[in-house]
Amino acid sequence: MPEISVPTRGRTLDHAAKVYDLLEPLFLLGKQAEYDHDILRLLELKENDRVLDLGCGTGVLTRMIAERLDAHKGGISIGIDAAAQMIKVARKKRETPTCRFEIAAAENLPFENGSFNSIVSSLFFHHVPIDLKKKALTEAYRVLKPGGRLIIADMHTPSTFMGWLVSHISRYFFMQPQIGENIRGVMPTVIREADFTAPEPVATYFGYITLFLSRKP
Ligand SMILES: C[S@@+](CC[C@H](N)C(=O)[O-])C[C@H]1O[C@@H](n2cnc3c(N)ncnc32)[C@H](O)[C@@H]1O
Repeated sequence: MPEISVPTRGRTLDHAAKVYDLLEPLFLLGKQAEYDHDILRLLELKENDRVLDLGCGTGVLTRMIAERLDAHKGGISIGIDAAAQMIKVARKKRETPTCRFEIAAAENLPFENGSFNSIVSSLFFHHVPIDLKKKALTEAYRVLKPGGRLIIADMHTPSTFMGWLVSHISRYFFMQPQIGENIRGVMPTVIREADFTAPEPVATYFGYITLFLSRKP
């Protein structure tokens, strides 16, 4: 029986799943690898870590993390996405013993309290409205172990003219008010409100994506 997407008010990408791996590098000028590597560096992975990737899409980052883990030692990288078609592509292309994918909404995670060492997310939060951003962060806090890292790469207040142009064009071209929230700079506030430590803006890319590092105290 075909698996179905979970209901969410987030902007899911079932329709784009088959072409996402082709289009995404075009949108980001092939530079996503740059911040994916920065995320890996910040994770300081141990082979037995359990890592969760929120809004994983086709699972590129989930798989990069998984390659540094050892299934025999309990290491696992799990990607969740609300879009069943994205998870279908992710499983087909990237599932391994240390790399698993599940259809789930970030605002309602099917995991035990304190079950992950780290949580990452790339370009997911600008797909959900502010109340779901908050719910997803509350859920991330719940499933993260004390001391665990939260690493988010997402659209934020533009820092260059090009960044300003790209983010405002995206906001109107994709008719996505959730992008407007990110541009106004809500991410640090909502991360903090979910009880994580004050997010450190570690790096910015292309003038409109910021990499935030925070922790569950
Ligand atoms: C721009 S894509 C990012 C995919 C991947 N993380 C990347 O960096 O390429 C955003 C993803 O968020 C997913 N999404 C939207 N709302 C969601 C929700 N409430 N819970 C989980 N995933 C959601 C979409 O289906 C989509 O795959």
